Amino acid sequence: MNRPLVITVVLLAALVLGVSFYFSDGDNRSGGTGAALVQVKVPALTGDAKSGESLFNNKCASCHGENAAGQDGVAPPLVHIIYEPNHHGDASFQRAAQNGVRAHHWRFGNMPPVEGIAAYEVEKIIAYVRTLQRANGIN
Ligand code: HEC
Repeated sequence: MNRPLVITVVLLAALVLGVSFYFSDGDNRSGGTGAALVQVKVPALTGDAKSGESLFNNKCASCHGENAAGQDGVAPPLVHIIYEPNHHGDASFQRAAQNGVRAHHWRFGNMPPVEGIAAYEVEKIIAYVRTLQRANGIN
């Protein structure tokens, strides 16, 4: 067996795998543009909604986009009639963060569970999202 050749082949395979993994794990998973999917009016934020904003930006915005406006090809806007409180109550946000979500309303794929977030932090994120929803006529 030609050892240098085997090593070269293994290294090349690792490189190809690494590169495809890198590109497949980006924000733009299914070839969309990443553009916001809805226009969101952002009201003044105070209290829990304000802390929820930074938690959201750290843990959710990479998929759900800035101001929860969604991202083309990545994830849906949460400022959307589908997520009004009567249809997706606060418990569904807690469940989504803890267990992930099986794709059912859209064609973005599944949402994985969000690591390293506590229920009280999700509560603040909910306060933030509900504030945005109300400011955009979703009650
Ligand atoms: C890796 C991408 C990703 C991240 C990060 C992410 N989500 Fe999601 N989320 C999705 C996708 C995709 C869906 C749509 C699933 C579908 O088709 O219904 C979704 C759906 C949801 C839903 C709807 C749940 C339901 O019952 O239908 C809620 C609520 C939600 N996300 C909240 C959050 C919150 C809060 C965070 C941050 C703590 C977060 N998401 C982070 C991708 C993501």
